Amino acid sequence: MSRSIYEFPEIFRRVHMEQPVEITREVIFLRRVWERHLNRPVRRVLDIACGDSPHGQILLRDGIAVAGVDRSPTMIAKGRAESRNAIHIYRRPIERFRIPERLFDATFFMSETFPIMVTNADLMSHLRSVARVLRRGGIYCIDIDRHDGIELVRKRKLWRERTVRAGSVLVEIREFHRPIRWDSTLHSIYELECRIHFPAGPVLTRDIIPVRYIVPATLELIAGASGCFKLIACYADLSFTKPIERCHGRWWGILQRV
Ligand SMILES: C[S@@+](CC[C@H](N)C(=O)[O-])C[C@H]1O[C@@H](n2cnc3c(N)ncnc32)[C@H](O)[C@@H]1O
Repeated sequence: MSRSIYEFPEIFRRVHMEQPVEITREVIFLRRVWERHLNRPVRRVLDIACGDSPHGQILLRDGIAVAGVDRSPTMIAKGRAESRNAIHIYRRPIERFRIPERLFDATFFMSETFPIMVTNADLMSHLRSVARVLRRGGIYCIDIDRHDGIELVRKRKLWRERTVRAGSVLVEIREFHRPIRWDSTLHSIYELECRIHFPAGPVLTRDIIPVRYIVPATLELIAGASGCFKLIACYADLSFTKPIERCHGRWWGILQRV
């Protein structure tokens, strides 16, 4: 069985070309969204698909209680260790979960992972799982890549090749697009292959990530269909003023628990 890049938390961030400052900027924007859309202080938050919860680690230092949900034992172990177990991270699938926690004031789902839920049933059960632990009026912020240029490929096709360094470790990356059925809801199936050159020998990882095509209007429909949420705002590129149609990289959908 192939290994996953999520088994190597230190390396996955470099592979995704993330800079540490991005997380800080996202947390600042999260707080501004809460100020704008919530008329109460945020004391308890839930980080969905939290990984090692880099956003949660910052919020925790600001005195906010944080819990998270993720399925990767390695990422969870790192998140627990970094927070000295102060972040309660539950090993659960995001598609359907229950956690023994009091209601949260806000929840968030960062790092463009929301579109991996591709069936309507998974999306509905996900939103209902979140709604169970979010107080009425609470805010759920979801960040999503701008999806455009859907390309229906007939065969697995190399998209790009690159190398990165994570400390002293060289990582060779190949990214592929895989065929999608004409009748699926998918924007793409993204395959990420990494050859990690550890001193003890190379390790190959392969992650196959189906990505559902999600634009603001789809998110609005999904939220309404769940019966638990409504879409109250969309923001482009961490800005309150940039029109959504001018979004360059990522946009945020802001859902409110009804
Ligand atoms: C790109 S990482 C983002 C982690 C973190 N939110 C961050 O910003 O660094 C995506 C995370 O989603 C988790 N994940 C992916 N599919 C999942 C699923 N079906 N259920 C639970 N967690 C999942 C992975 O284990 C991984 O930690």
